[in-house]
Amino acid sequence: MQVDGSVAIVTGGASGLGLATADRLLKEGARVVIVDLPSSNGAAVAAERGDAVRFVAADVRDPDEVQAAVDAAEAMGPLRILVHCAGRGGALRLVDREGNPGSLELYTEVVTINLIGTFNVLRLAAASMAKNEPIDGDRGVAILTASVAAFEGQIGQIPYASAKAGVVGLTVVAARDLAGKNIRVCTIAPGTFNTPSSRCRSSTTGCSTARQSGSTVRSGCRRDERVIDPGRRPRFRRHDNARSSRSPQRD
Ligand SMILES: NC(=O)c1ccc[n+]([C@@H]2O[C@H](COP(=O)([O-])OP(=O)(O)OC[C@H]3O[C@@H](n4cnc5c(N)ncnc54)[C@H](O)[C@@H]3O)[C@@H](O)[C@H]2O)c1
Repeated sequence: MQVDGSVAIVTGGASGLGLATADRLLKEGARVVIVDLPSSNGAAVAAERGDAVRFVAADVRDPDEVQAAVDAAEAMGPLRILVHCAGRGGALRLVDREGNPGSLELYTEVVTINLIGTFNVLRLAAASMAKNEPIDGDRGVAILTASVAAFEGQIGQIPYASAKAGVVGLTVVAARDLAGKNIRVCTIAPGTFNTPSSRCRSSTTGCSTARQSGSTVRSGCRRDERVIDPGRRPRFRRHDNARSSRSPQRD
């Protein structure tokens, strides 16, 4: 995929992974539509970055709002790149400390944002990409975001792990479905990394998450974390889990 001169949509582009991705695409010569919630920093982020960036306030669950973002991208040129990073966690136990069943509303909300939102963004972006003239055999590429939790979630991650497993599950089907249209689909499943809203959380569950993701774990209480730093190569910082509080992990 030729990034230079292409138009990209980056969801969740106001923060963390999405923001770092948007900056990288800009550096490579793309024009970028950042899609994020109206309450996000998206407008300021776009204003700081100039004409090659537009912010469209949209909830990834909303068909009309996401279509407006696709329309904004098409106004900049053929949409060829989607990087879908928008997502959130939500800690939930099946039975809480008082013996009450876990919240169906929270489960539904987290699954809807992470899984249904992914389908919504992918289908609308793909319909736009399908209209493109192929360049070097490609009409477009979609990169989705799952998590290591898709394969081994921790206690408290039941909605998040369910949704991310769904994203993994849809990936090969989507790739096969869109292959005939020369649109590639792939999904990343990161381990824990440090973003503004996802500060490293400690606990032995954190260690096992890091262990599964291939990060270095020493003595069961230390791990390395990947630091997303726009404009720089990822670096690794050691974190002492023993000093932080215990809380259910999101990732
Ligand atoms: N940080 C980690 O350790 C980690 C690990 C594995 C996977 N992930 C995944 O990576 C992605 C990015 O995570 P991050 O750490 O950069 O998080 P982040 O919170 O910094 O960024 C996520 C962005 O998504 C936006 N967003 C949330 N719900 C939305 C909605 N309904 N519609 C539109 N935008 C919405 C938020 O406003 C935010 O700007 C997420 O899908 C997350 O699940 C993160």
